[in-house]
Amino acid sequence: MTLDRIDWVTRNCRLLGATARTFAETQPFAGMTIGTGIHLEPKTAALLETLSVGGARVVATGNLNSSQLETIDYLAGRGMEIIGAPTGDSQEHGRYLDEIVARQPDLLLDNGGDLFARVADAPYASLLGGTEETTSGRARLVPLRSAIARPVLVINDSPIKQFAENRHAVGQSIFESYLRFSNRMTNGRRVTVFGYGACGRGVAACFRNAQSIVSVVDTDPVVTLEAHLDGYVTPLREDAIKSADVIVTVTGAADVITAANMPLFKDGVSLINGGHFPWEVDAKGLAGHPAVQATDRFDDLDIATHHLADGRSIHVFADGHMANLAGPRPLGNSIESMDLGFTLQARCLELVARGGVGADACVVPVPPDINAQVATDYLVLNR
Ligand SMILES: NC(=O)c1ccc[n+]([C@@H]2O[C@H](COP(=O)([O-])OP(=O)(O)OC[C@H]3O[C@@H](n4cnc5c(N)ncnc54)[C@H](O)[C@@H]3O)[C@@H](O)[C@H]2O)c1
Repeated sequence: MTLDRIDWVTRNCRLLGATARTFAETQPFAGMTIGTGIHLEPKTAALLETLSVGGARVVATGNLNSSQLETIDYLAGRGMEIIGAPTGDSQEHGRYLDEIVARQPDLLLDNGGDLFARVADAPYASLLGGTEETTSGRARLVPLRSAIARPVLVINDSPIKQFAENRHAVGQSIFESYLRFSNRMTNGRRVTVFGYGACGRGVAACFRNAQSIVSVVDTDPVVTLEAHLDGYVTPLREDAIKSADVIVTVTGAADVITAANMPLFKDGVSLINGGHFPWEVDAKGLAGHPAVQATDRFDDLDIATHHLADGRSIHVFADGHMANLAGPRPLGNSIESMDLGFTLQARCLELVARGGVGADACVVPVPPDINAQVATDYLVLNR
């Protein structure tokens, strides 16, 4: 039998598989539509299929620059409605998200706050609530609580998501992405990680384990102290940029590395973003800097090399898009980490669908009993 990567992933999402077998009997989403804008790649296919088996009509679009055609075809072939096509154009992507909300789904599975932010502008009565996947989405939705006024459970705020995906899996996959894009050695290289939250900790640890000399820059002095005590170099921002062979941003903030930093870069520096939005490394501003004399685009690698008037070169990976879902053969985070996070998603949507939480649970963490159940189920399957 010839199988493909989607089969490999869905077979190894064992928690989702077990959840789907339960949902096939309990039908928690019977008669409901679930709308989502999420990275359409094989692991999300396993999640959306689980929701579909649970009775949901699924209407989905991708996230910016991360949708994979094989996954779209796979989902469409299983009766899900896929809006739009892969795009890196934020306005076009915005129109697809508008279309999802225009379908007035009963539940929303949001990723980055795109859908609930639209609901806050134009609420509709039939919306029961839903989930939000990310840190960036939570930050965007907290100020909109009174306008949303529905239960929204934030998957990112589960301790399981924090350590399984953000720390361990993002660390591994951003590190894997550096190797996958560049095919270059990490030993002895000076790597600066911007942001020492859950994701940054994993990224810093993976490069350190690969014999790089890792420094950390964080705007929070308490977090910087922790990085220092964890044994990382914690130079001032300017010094960190000047010395780096590789700069990774994982902050959630905009304009972490911009054209203003051009005078500081070491010749040959590689700039990589691991944060959700393509705004941490200002790829456009760097490309348009007056010192850039010529640009080589290695299209099959998704690397742009800018040659500067003073002889230096800088490499920008994936135009500043999240590297682990971009570039050649993007794999995203490990299957097991996503299986855990997506099982939290499925169980939280089930809770909202059956009215198990009220509007006071608007932008709150995953309930502890769901965390405990998912952790127990994972351990049982993996002992
Ligand atoms: N690539 C992936 O697969 C993936 C997965 C999960 C989360 N994310 C994204 O990664 C980003 C970081 O997530 P997190 O959970 O680590 O967030 P976090 O809030 O735990 O940590 C972010 C850290 O960045 C620091 N920071 C903020 N602005 C900064 C700046 N300008 N310079 C230096 N440090 C700065 C903060 O003080 C904080 O310590 C978010 O955008 C999140 O959505 C990506």
